[in-house]
Amino acid sequence: MDELAINGGAKAKTVPYNQPNKYTDEERELLLEVLDSGKLMGPGGKVADFEAEVCRAFGVKHAIMVTSGTVALQTALAALGVSEGDEVITTPMTDFGTTAAILALHAIPIFSDIDLSTRLLDPQKVREKITDKTRVIITVHMAGMPCEMDAFLDISEETGVKILEDCAQAHGATYRGRFVGAIGHAAGFSMNESKQISTGDGGFVTTNDDETAEIARLFRDKTYLRGQKLERGVQPIPFFGTNLRPTCLQAAVAIAQLHKLEYLVARRDQIVRRYYAELGDLPHLDFPKIADNVHPSWWPLAIRYTGSTPTRDELVDVFRAEGVSINTSMSAVKNILRTEVIQKRKYYPLTDDIPTFWQNTTYNPDDCPNVDTLQATCLRLPVNERYTDEDIDQTIAAVKKVWAHYF
Ligand SMILES: Cc1ncc(COP(=O)(O)O)c(C=O)c1O
Repeated sequence: MDELAINGGAKAKTVPYNQPNKYTDEERELLLEVLDSGKLMGPGGKVADFEAEVCRAFGVKHAIMVTSGTVALQTALAALGVSEGDEVITTPMTDFGTTAAILALHAIPIFSDIDLSTRLLDPQKVREKITDKTRVIITVHMAGMPCEMDAFLDISEETGVKILEDCAQAHGATYRGRFVGAIGHAAGFSMNESKQISTGDGGFVTTNDDETAEIARLFRDKTYLRGQKLERGVQPIPFFGTNLRPTCLQAAVAIAQLHKLEYLVARRDQIVRRYYAELGDLPHLDFPKIADNVHPSWWPLAIRYTGSTPTRDELVDVFRAEGVSINTSMSAVKNILRTEVIQKRKYYPLTDDIPTFWQNTTYNPDDCPNVDTLQATCLRLPVNERYTDEDIDQTIAAVKKVWAHYF
């Protein structure tokens, strides 16, 4: 048996992972076009071009580009009618941006647990959290795996609660042949640098509903009415909105990135299929369940280590010594329920006073045990469209080597 690298043996991963720059000539050319046009400010120009391309690519009626995924979700929540004191149900295993979007509107985040087998919000558990104050459920397609949308749409039909898809990690994933972002009442996408499509920072809202789109457009733009022949000085400002406008520079990069999405999704899928096929039968490893009707847009694959000796954290050290890029957390915050902002309802930096809208809510930190279990047992195998076949061969060989040593 090969000696583990952590004990002085040769590394299984002998070459560094291939990571060429993901911004290429197309981004450069489109950026120069914008600079040469002398028009950097949206929301027309390349911003409108990008929005039209999103509509075509995802089969959705409207897209509204904004400056981040967080404000995309906030814009969508506002456009779906969320206001002060309303409850919005979501998972505490997501980026904090999902929660921030709710709190920014003085709405109340309500956290519901995940299904361990899919790693996604469990529709049954969400149903139990619905009250007469619930306005929206945010289904987070975490790590590119689409949520069980039929079950959520049934809940919506029965209760009138709207469905907002958090597609920040799921560009190009499909559910029953439809792209995520075109299924719920609205969706929010992120384009920060870790995402399938990146503009450094950025985001967009999608919806099939005309009124939702119209409100979202106003909300991102201080509620200015554009494209209408209004005398300067007579903007009516119909409600409160701030400036969430992206520039045409971001949109130029976004267009070029969108053109790469189909390849990215397909290549990541190839890699993940190899992991399932070549590692799926190893003991003490639990792979995410993939429903028949979904096509994920993969991120690092969240397998679960179900053994006890060695520990998960010991295994991570062993893998890192082998040269394998492996990490353990599904998100920057393991469980948002356990953060200070939620436990103390600490809204403002310099006062502990709880704002009125949040005074009657308390949070049990142990309310979502499946999230804690997943975060404590998760091993994320590297997935990236830029990795070569050799990268994947060596990663698989490393897992087999480590498993042969221990099990
Ligand atoms: C699931 C999820 N929701 C929301 C966000 C927020 O997006 P952004 O960082 O663009 O504000 C992210 C980004 O990390 C995310 O992964």
